[in-house]
Amino acid sequence: MTSLPTPSRTAVVTGASSGIGAATARRLAAAGYHVYCAARRGDRIADLADEIGGTAVACDVTSEESVAHLASVVGDRLDVLVNNAGGAFGAAPVAEADGDDWRRMYEVNVIGLMQVTKALLPALVATGAGAILNVGSTAGRIAYEGGAGYTAAKHGTQVVTETLRLELWDQPVRVMEIAPGMVKTDEFALVRFEGDRAKADAVYAGVAAPLTADDIADAITWMVTRPPHVNVDELVIRPRAQAAQHKVHREG
Ligand SMILES: NC(=O)c1ccc[n+]([C@@H]2O[C@H](COP(=O)([O-])OP(=O)(O)OC[C@H]3O[C@@H](n4cnc5c(N)ncnc54)[C@H](OP(=O)(O)O)[C@@H]3O)[C@@H](O)[C@H]2O)c1
Repeated sequence: MTSLPTPSRTAVVTGASSGIGAATARRLAAAGYHVYCAARRGDRIADLADEIGGTAVACDVTSEESVAHLASVVGDRLDVLVNNAGGAFGAAPVAEADGDDWRRMYEVNVIGLMQVTKALLPALVATGAGAILNVGSTAGRIAYEGGAGYTAAKHGTQVVTETLRLELWDQPVRVMEIAPGMVKTDEFALVRFEGDRAKADAVYAGVAAPLTADDIADAITWMVTRPPHVNVDELVIRPRAQAAQHKVHREG
């Protein structure tokens, strides 16, 4: 009997142009996935897709039209979706908060995640063993001064994940969340502080070994490659030096 070739496994990673998303795209490609690398900066994802043999799709997750284009490129089957696009903008206390920053954070961390999930869900169901991995944060578990806009958005990521797991209880799709603590990536803190290098560096000052993007990518790859009946609901992951959000061991 002639056997048909097994279709290669596919994954979508949003926010693949830097940090955790780029590292995850590399890890998933090494694990045998064809990775659709999605982000707004097309030049960066084109280089990454070349490097890992994937496909670059310029996509703004906050735009329904752009997400529809991503779904059309992916087609009717998808094994893994990593909703990683996100970030923090500003660190003002509530009394001085900038409404535009708050709206942008909700747009990318919650609405963007919803739009991409909604558009790709039929393809994830179609494989009979889909996996959705949302990148939340320990900011979705606690509160800290100056963090309300981001913590509110990342709490949103968490509850949307929980809700989706309940709603898909009879569907062949796992729904998981990773909640990292301090991860030293090139851009996260710089974006938050609008390019202010001193403020960005202060986040990691004296911390001997913050987590790296690749640490998170490694954990994500482990989660999504468990057997289809194993749902790692949530994984909270921090550097050893960060016992809690406010209790970080800094040297010097
Ligand atoms: N670093 C940390 O300490 C930490 C801790 C916990 C959780 N996280 C979460 O981990 C995720 C990745 O963070 P990171 O540290 O890797 O930061 P990063 O390097 O700033 O990456 C953010 C990524 O999101 C993409 N992105 C932003 N807005 C987008 C949009 N509208 N449409 C599509 N892509 C968009 C960016 O690409 P483009 O600009 O090219 O679109 C970029 O690739 C985020 O969800 C973040 O909240 C980070």
